[in-house]
Amino acid sequence: MSVSPQIEEAVRVLQGGGLVAFPTETVYGLGALIRLPRAVAQVFAAKARPHFDPLIVHVLHAAQAETVAEVPASQRRRFETLARAFWPGPLTLLLPKRAGVPDLVTSGLPTVGVRVPAHPRALELLAAVGEPICAPSANPFGRLSPTTAEHVRAGLGDRVDLILDGGACAVGVESTILSLAGDAPEILRPGGVPHEAIEAALGETVAVHADSAARIQAPGQLDAHYAPRTPLSILPARATGGRLGLLAFSRPRDGYAAVEILSESRDLNEAAVRLFACLHRLDAAGLDGIEVEAVPETGLGLAIMNRLRKAAHSTA
Ligand code: TXA
Ligand code: MG
Repeated sequence: MSVSPQIEEAVRVLQGGGLVAFPTETVYGLGALIRLPRAVAQVFAAKARPHFDPLIVHVLHAAQAETVAEVPASQRRRFETLARAFWPGPLTLLLPKRAGVPDLVTSGLPTVGVRVPAHPRALELLAAVGEPICAPSANPFGRLSPTTAEHVRAGLGDRVDLILDGGACAVGVESTILSLAGDAPEILRPGGVPHEAIEAALGETVAVHADSAARIQAPGQLDAHYAPRTPLSILPARATGGRLGLLAFSRPRDGYAAVEILSESRDLNEAAVRLFACLHRLDAAGLDGIEVEAVPETGLGLAIMNRLRKAAHSTA
């Protein structure tokens, strides 16, 4: 297989201990090789991310996932079912980690998050480099996630050695995080694979524990996250201040200085794709506040509302 010059360059940067931002189907990731501790440390530094917030490990296929994670016998059937159904794709599985995974990657936790991303450039990069890449979303810690190369440039600038431009992300919200580290599977972050699809594939009920403060196992589950700089409120809660913007689900309303529409046809997949780009634009519009219409919490609506509540909480 011939490798494009840009991918070759990205492999050189990674192997030299540098950081490469790359597109995935969910959001752009800020990648480093997991076996190079200084590079991993640079990922945390570039994002100003606290070291207690672990990174997701990106792999080429399920077999490579098993080089970093151990699949307990009791979870083997679920692991294989989910990998077959959703990889490559927006599903991260939490499993007991293997000893070779540096503690820096997992923030000292006994588990590791692994996923096979679906973007062709991400897969090309993983195939060419031949080893796992850890990558958080390529944004400053706590800010809006990047769904274009331009968002990465604007947020991280020269703290990234190379940005691979793969266009706008096709899913638009981060991966669903599903823990297979306990007895029963549970969703710790709703994301690109809907809760309903996971239950259908597994043929069992799966609990969602994303918003429960008592159960924080990972800071991405902290309430404050994914935030614009402009204060954001979810209607009927109102924003205070003079010039207000609206993030509407399907129809504009009068009285706003700026309006973004998630999906005229009320399609939650389209709404997810547009979510962060709409918020980035509203955030850049010099507004005093952003009001947001709630969307139904089915399918990708669960992930959308999870991100919006965290954004509202962060800016409150
Ligand atoms: O779609 C995605 O998942 C994107 C793309 C780049 O793959 N990545 C992403 O990474 O969203 P990040 O770092 O922004 O969010 C990862 C979340 C964090 O909330 C982190 O706390 C959680 O995953 N996480 C990672 N490893 C974990 C572990 N071992 N146990 C619990 N949570 C973990
Ligand atoms: Mg993130």
